[in-house]
Amino acid sequence: MHKKIYEIPEDWADHALVSAERYQRLYDFSFRDPEGFWSEQGRRISWIAPYTIVKDTRFDPHKVSIKWFEDGTTNAAMNCIDRHLLTRGDQVAIIWEGDDPSQSRRITYRELYEEVSRFANVLKKHGVRRGDRVTIYLPMIPEAAFAMLACARIGAIHSVVFGGFSPEALAGRIEDARSEVVITADEGVRGGKRIPLKENVDKALTRVSAKTVFVVTRTGGEIGMEKGRDFRYEEERESVSAHCPYAEMGAEDPLFILYTSGSTGKPKGVLHTTGGYLVQASITHELVFDYRDGDVYWCTADVGWVTGHSYIVYGPLSNGATTLMFEGVPNYPTVSRFWEVVDKHAVNTLYTAPTAIRALMAAGEEPVKRTSRKTLRLLGSVGEPINPEAWEWYHRVVGEGRLPIVDTWWQTETGGVLISPLPGAIALKPGSATKPFFGVVPEIVGPTGEVLHGACEGNLVIADSWPGQARTLWGDHERFAQTYFHAYPGKYFTGDGARRDEDGYYWITGRVDDVINVSGHRLGTAEIESALVAHELVSEAAVVGYPHDLKGQGIYAYVTLMQGVEPHDALRKELVSWVRREIGPIASPDAVQFAPGLPKTRSGKIMRRILRKIAEGEFGTLGDTSTLADPAVVGDLIKHRAEV
Ligand code: PRX
Repeated sequence: MHKKIYEIPEDWADHALVSAERYQRLYDFSFRDPEGFWSEQGRRISWIAPYTIVKDTRFDPHKVSIKWFEDGTTNAAMNCIDRHLLTRGDQVAIIWEGDDPSQSRRITYRELYEEVSRFANVLKKHGVRRGDRVTIYLPMIPEAAFAMLACARIGAIHSVVFGGFSPEALAGRIEDARSEVVITADEGVRGGKRIPLKENVDKALTRVSAKTVFVVTRTGGEIGMEKGRDFRYEEERESVSAHCPYAEMGAEDPLFILYTSGSTGKPKGVLHTTGGYLVQASITHELVFDYRDGDVYWCTADVGWVTGHSYIVYGPLSNGATTLMFEGVPNYPTVSRFWEVVDKHAVNTLYTAPTAIRALMAAGEEPVKRTSRKTLRLLGSVGEPINPEAWEWYHRVVGEGRLPIVDTWWQTETGGVLISPLPGAIALKPGSATKPFFGVVPEIVGPTGEVLHGACEGNLVIADSWPGQARTLWGDHERFAQTYFHAYPGKYFTGDGARRDEDGYYWITGRVDDVINVSGHRLGTAEIESALVAHELVSEAAVVGYPHDLKGQGIYAYVTLMQGVEPHDALRKELVSWVRREIGPIASPDAVQFAPGLPKTRSGKIMRRILRKIAEGEFGTLGDTSTLADPAVVGDLIKHRAEV
C-alpha cells in the first residue's frame, strides 16, 4: 500500500465548497439522520409537487424495496433545462468537440431547450408515450444528450447502448427492454475511423423487431433506409415545434435503463428512477468536483456508460454547468489531444479513466508539457483502481503538482459517486478513493459475513440506501434481490473487495466476482464464454482476467475444441474476431489458450482460481489441486500457457 499523503492545498482548504470541518459535520449529520440530511438536500432540484416522504427503503433480501421522495413530482429535463432559462439562457450548456479538431459546436441552454423540445415532439409524433422504452445507439454527438433529455421530457425511458457494442449485443438489449424505437446515426467517427452504426442497427433488427428507427446524420455516409420504419431525424425535426411541455413525473417513475455486466447470465438492465437519481447526480457533481458557476467541466466518458449519464448529462446540466462532450479519443490526431482540448476550451475540471492516463503516460511527458493547461483546477479518475504510478504521473505531469485528484469509486448501480475525496476536505493518498460521500455507509465484511472494524480487508458492502441507488433490474426484481442483497442480508453487496487503513481510508482492490474490468469497462466472464461456445468448433470455454499494463485487466480465454478439431493459429485469430463480432471490440480476448481439459472439481465445477493463477503466471501458488477430477490437466495448462 502506497504510504504517501498529499495534504489539502492551502487555497483549497480555505476556499472549497466543503472544508474538512464541514465534511465531518455534514457526514455525521447524514449518518445520524439520513432523512433529515436528504430532506434538505432533495430541495436542490426543482419539484412540481414537493415531497413529504423522504426515505422508504428496505434491504431485506425477501422484500427489497427502495423509494426516495416518493410523493414528490418533477421532471429531469425540466431540471436540466427549463429552470436555467431565465438566468442562463445564453450560457453555453454543451461544448461539443469533434473527433476532427477543426469541428466543434457550442449549444446554449436556450438552444438546448429548443433541440430537446423538437426531439421530444418527434418522438411524440411517432407515438412514443410515457413509460415506453427508447434505445439510443449514437456516437458522442450532442444529439445523444438531446435524445436522452427528450425521453426524460415526455416520460419515456431511455436505454443508451454504447456505440462500440455489436449488432448482436444491441439486439439483446433492444429485446430485453422491449423497446420499439431506436435512435441511431448513419455512422460514428472515432480516431479518424468510421463506425457503421446504422448498418449495425439493420443487422440487429434482423433478429429482433422495432417499429421505428430515427437516423441522425453524422457523416452523410451511404446507408440503407427501410420505408415505413426508418426516418431521417433532420427531416422529422423540421416538421415539429420547438416547444414541448415537460411531463409531470413521479419521483419513482423510471428515468432510464442501463445495461451492465454481471457475474452470470446476460447483461442486467439496471433501472434508475427520477427524483433520487437526479438529487444524487446533482449533489455529487457539485461537491466532488467543487463545481462553481462558470466552470467548464469535462468528463471524457462515453454517454453509453453510467459515467456519461451522471457526469456529462444529468449532474452538470442539473447544476447549470457548461459540460464538454468529446467525440474522439486521447491519441488522435496526436497524443496531445486531451491537453489541446483543455487549452482550446479553457477546461477547469478534467474527469477521466486510469486506462487513458496509463496510455498517455506511456507516450511520455513532452506531449503534455507542450500545452499550457493553466485553466485546470481539478483532476478526476473513475472506472477502475488507479495504480499509484499513474496517479503520481497524473498529479506531477498533468497537474504540475498543484491540482488535487478526486479518485471516485462508484458503479452503474449506485447512480453517482459513493466514495471519493472532496478536494477541500480530504488529504489524498495515491490509489485510495479515500472516504465516503455524505449519507454513504460503507462496511467491510469478512469471510463469514461478519462486519470488520478498524484497519481490515474484505468485501465492500453499503449498509443503508442512498437516493441514487438502482431500484431494480428491468423485468427481474428477483435477480436484483439475489445479486445485491442475498450475500449479506440487510446490506447492499457491491461485488468489490476493499481495504480500510488505519486512517479510515478505503482502497478498492477490484471485483471479487466473475466480472472483469478491461480499460474501465465492465465485462462478465460468462458473457465472453457464451460467445465463445456459440462458435461451432468450441466445446467449452473459461475466461479469466489477468493484470494488463494498459487495460488494467486483460482477457484470457481457455478454449476446449470439439472432438477431433486440431488447434491452430488461424483458429485462435478467428475466435478473437468471433468474440469481437458477438459482443464488440472491448471484449476481444488478449490471449487464447487451447486446453484439452479444464481443471474441474469432481462435481464438475471449473476451478477459476487455478485458471487465474496460470494466466497470471503464478504457478507457485496454485494451492491444493488434489481435489480436481483430473489433476493432470494443470501440468498441461502450465506447459501451454499463452504469451501475454
Ligand atoms: O470494480 C469497481 C470499478 O468499476 C466497477 C463499476 O463499473 P461500472 O458499473 O461500469 O461503473 C464504472 C463507472 C462508475 C466497480 O464495481 N471502479 C469504478 N470506479 C473505481 C473502481 N474501482 C476502483 N476505484 C475506482 N475509482
